[in-house]
Amino acid sequence: MVAAGAAATLLKKEDAMKIGFGSDHAGIELKLQLMEHLREKGYECVDYGNYDPNDRGDDYPKPGRAVAEAIMRGEADKGVLVCGTGLGISLAANKVPGIRAAVCSEPYTASMAVRHNNCQIISVGARVVGRELAKVIVDAFFGAEFEGGRHQDRVDMISQVEKDYRGQ
Ligand code: RB5
Repeated sequence: MVAAGAAATLLKKEDAMKIGFGSDHAGIELKLQLMEHLREKGYECVDYGNYDPNDRGDDYPKPGRAVAEAIMRGEADKGVLVCGTGLGISLAANKVPGIRAAVCSEPYTASMAVRHNNCQIISVGARVVGRELAKVIVDAFFGAEFEGGRHQDRVDMISQVEKDYRGQ
């Protein structure tokens, strides 16, 4: 795994950060565009579904969960999720313990989601933002680095909430 800041330069294949992608039918087109965009920057991009834009039964919780679990297994370093609003798919991902997924519609929040919240997943709404803005948003996310320190303490507090509710 490489530092997120390395995104600006073309990465060697063996060093490339592995990004898991997921979408429902509403997000497939934008997901594929973002995969191409990030591949061109040297990231390894893996699609965890769904794959058919005509499949209305491809409910967003499934790909949200699949990408989140891939990250927790260590199979992917980070994730990009796309549904109509970015919301439903992020909610599913956030139910996987240890995952922090942020819905972002502009680059400032996308950057802060990493710098302060150490999010592993960015979620975008294909019915909310256009393709070019979505590219700027994911670039901000992958160009940012976690600042640690007091922000780590706060992220630890989020993890503690999960621990307090485990088994209930
Ligand atoms: C699908 O119509 C839509 O509900 C979904 O893509 C997403 O926006 C849900 O949060």
